[in-house]
Amino acid sequence: MPRPIKTAVFPVAGLGTRFLPATKAMPKEMLTIVDRPVIQVAVDEAREAGVEHFVFVTGRNKGVIEDHFDKQFELEETLAARGKNEQLEILASDLPQAGQASFTRQQEPLGLGHAVWCARKLVGDEPFALVLPDMLMKGAPGCLSQMTATYEERGGNIIAVEEVPHDQVSNYGIVGVGETLSDTAFSINEMVEKPAQNEAPSNYIISGRYILQPEVFAEIEAQKPGAGGEIQITDAMIRLMAHQSFYGVKFDGTTFDCGNKVGFLMANVAYGLDRPDIEPEFREALNALLKS
Ligand code: G1P
Repeated sequence: MPRPIKTAVFPVAGLGTRFLPATKAMPKEMLTIVDRPVIQVAVDEAREAGVEHFVFVTGRNKGVIEDHFDKQFELEETLAARGKNEQLEILASDLPQAGQASFTRQQEPLGLGHAVWCARKLVGDEPFALVLPDMLMKGAPGCLSQMTATYEERGGNIIAVEEVPHDQVSNYGIVGVGETLSDTAFSINEMVEKPAQNEAPSNYIISGRYILQPEVFAEIEAQKPGAGGEIQITDAMIRLMAHQSFYGVKFDGTTFDCGNKVGFLMANVAYGLDRPDIEPEFREALNALLKS
């Protein structure tokens, strides 16, 4: 039985320039999906998969994320005095337990691989999940739980994948498909970061959830900047592939790329329609708007 995944790393140092001016003073990870910040949705998914240690790689102007995962005494006292028990319960159930959240900074924007490397001391010598919060992966069970099932069977490194139209492959990391393991899993025999369409080994993208062995840190450390002058996590994984197995798990659900405006708006619609407390009213209003 492989070592269980108890730690998840959330790289949240990005500037969010695509959402200016909303992200001028507020981290993009605090933009809301209905009434939950994007980062909270990602944390919920990791917690559902058994994660107990949430490691955030932050940067300048990201202090609000730390505050979000802390107790807010004044707010809670006010809610208690007003008898707002439902809201109090939401705050309590979202809060990581004492010591479960750790924060470190990526001091320079040197790429996703470098952001992950910044978390090495907090992760230690254990396998861990890597969760890119921009990619909101809506599924039941969640994407990480789907991956954990294959991980428990096979160990190694797991990447959530999904197919995209061929003309979009150059926006993503792409995996090559090796041996079929089941309806939902296959061995990965190749990886390439943001290939030209005619050089992509498939149309399966690396979609934003990874289970990685700690040896990846040494591979990141040994590495020179790759695509876009950044230290890419994909390059480190390619090197690790020489010594360890990588498996692709086809995500069963819907992915919203909240790094772009349409993806973010679509996520709000999808999550809104999934919320029993607002669904009937929201659906009616949406239908009316679409007809107008
Ligand atoms: C990163 C990864 C890429 C992956 C993508 C998913 O790229 O490097 O392999 O497909 O996330 O969103 P980025 O979006 O940071 O350019």
